[in-house]
Amino acid sequence: MNKSATSFTCSACGAKHRKWAGRCDACGAWNTITEDAPLGAGPGARALKARGREIALGTLEDDEAPPPRRTSGLAELDRVLGGGLVPASAILVGGDPGIGKSTLLLQAVAGFAGQGLRCLYVSGEEAGAQVRLRARRLGLAEAPVSLGTETALRDILTTLDRERPDLAVIDSIQTMWLDTVESAPGSVAQVRAAAHELVSFAKRRGVSVVLVGHVTKEGQIAGPRVVEHMVDTVLYFEGERGHPFRILRSVKNRFGPADEIGVFEMTGRGLSEVANPSALFLSERGTPSPGSVVFAGIEGTRPLLTEIQALVAQSTLGTPRRAVVGLDGARLSTILAVLEARCGIPFAGMDVFLNVAGGMKVSEPAADLAVAAALLSAREDVALPADTVVFGEISLSGALRPVVQTENRLKEAQKLGFCRAIAPARSKFGGDAGLDVVQMPDLTAFTGAYFGAG
Ligand code: TYD
Ligand code: MG
Repeated sequence: MNKSATSFTCSACGAKHRKWAGRCDACGAWNTITEDAPLGAGPGARALKARGREIALGTLEDDEAPPPRRTSGLAELDRVLGGGLVPASAILVGGDPGIGKSTLLLQAVAGFAGQGLRCLYVSGEEAGAQVRLRARRLGLAEAPVSLGTETALRDILTTLDRERPDLAVIDSIQTMWLDTVESAPGSVAQVRAAAHELVSFAKRRGVSVVLVGHVTKEGQIAGPRVVEHMVDTVLYFEGERGHPFRILRSVKNRFGPADEIGVFEMTGRGLSEVANPSALFLSERGTPSPGSVVFAGIEGTRPLLTEIQALVAQSTLGTPRRAVVGLDGARLSTILAVLEARCGIPFAGMDVFLNVAGGMKVSEPAADLAVAAALLSAREDVALPADTVVFGEISLSGALRPVVQTENRLKEAQKLGFCRAIAPARSKFGGDAGLDVVQMPDLTAFTGAYFGAG
């Protein structure tokens, strides 16, 4: 018998183990590890002897009309959903505790209700009075939304079955519990079972459900992660504490483009939509200063200009510091290595701090050149010329690679009053970009032109 076929799973965090242990070394919980039932073998599992019924097969031809969309009137939300809410869809909205998920969804249900949808909001976290207080603060106390406060999923499903709303919000999935599952609310087993019940209810009864899930910064709470594959759409609500900007990002969408973002600002009266995010992210920028560079990026289907800031200082530590906010730390290491190896500009012995202004997160490779420009500008204490945007991917050889949607980036920069763009050579765009496009073949040419080094 093949011994390695037996495996064990922690019911609290979902970690797999080869051997049984009293304590899960992944999450530290005690007595949560149980043996997995073997697949199709052993006692307890029935061998697949009886024949199943045959399933109906069809062609790939699409004879159904595209799903109708219902809009909320919150344009940023509707766009992130791919053009509105699809009936009978299941959506997960994840984010850090306190980031504003409940606020967003209360505004969303009020918006959908205003468009004639029957909406139900179930809070498992807050008392009815708390939710009503928030609704009053948001000026939504009159909105025709049914409110329930409950955590017993069996009762919630019975109520939903009677009410048959168009949209039900469950805030949050971690507080829901099913009496058929023997583990605490918030455990992976409960979250998975509760989400499964809600998603199958949504499909069966044609009710759209939104599940709210808390995630920590590191994405640590395993809960919402196990739900991601069950739902049609996964949205993350992001933002930095201390910054009013909030970004709703679609990381998965069966009914629309992924990686679309909606930008909101948290105000004293709830979230307000930001129709021109580039202007907002650049609003705090003063006169051009060393270490500050404007990156012309693309988020989803939209161009977005952000400011990348770097600070480079002589280090007093044996191992210099590398601190990054809003960008990938590994990408910074790569760019520093390329600057050193290909352009002969060392950063050894220097602390490097890198930051995207306004709490925005940038993950595009097109940000490479803007990052390099900010680093060089900080190191040499020389500002880039005013009114200049930068974008381009850096390869390990130091060459600059053209990036997607060059034309959209240029248009956005021009719209915001920039008059120059530094871009990779061979970038593709229509003849008249409306601004001066400086095309650079590689990093050495770039450093030579703007920092007199290289
Ligand atoms: P909340 O929606 O409760 O967050 P989550 O559901 O993600 O845990 O929002 C919490 C924060 O938002 C709280 O710190 C207060 C702030 N807030 C405002 O700044 N303005 C408002 O109008 C509201 C309702 C909340
Ligand atoms: Mg909440």
